[in-house]
Amino acid sequence: MAYSEKVLDHYENPRNVGSFSKDDGSSVGTGMVGAPACGDVMKLQIKVNEAGVIEDAKFKTYGCGSAIASSSLVTEWVKGKTLDEALNIKNTQIAEELALPPVKIHCSILAEDAIKAAVEDYRKKNESK
Ligand code: FES
Ligand code: FES
Repeated sequence: MAYSEKVLDHYENPRNVGSFSKDDGSSVGTGMVGAPACGDVMKLQIKVNEAGVIEDAKFKTYGCGSAIASSSLVTEWVKGKTLDEALNIKNTQIAEELALPPVKIHCSILAEDAIKAAVEDYRKKNESK
């Protein structure tokens, strides 16, 4: 199967790979999701500032090229967004941007799920604030 140029670009030069340090504490939300279809796993983290804006994001994905490209793209997209704006990112937008074929749609769903899980984790940690 041929990958699109954008998938290859994000796959070969993934943006924002890694994770935040423990010292970042409750400013970081972590989402960890797996795809039942293939067993791939994606960990996505957001770092949120005082104003409730995502100032940084990182990911680690153990999976296919499309999953890596989807998570790389999403870490770029969420920067500068509020939590609610980040929740509005749809897997269809990711799939469209990367020109994913139908069998790879679940890879983009993984990225949408990961960002939702990260926001949820952040909100849980900061409930009392
Ligand atoms: Fe093998 Fe995704 S199915 S890496
Ligand atoms: Fe399963 Fe891509 S093949 S995440």
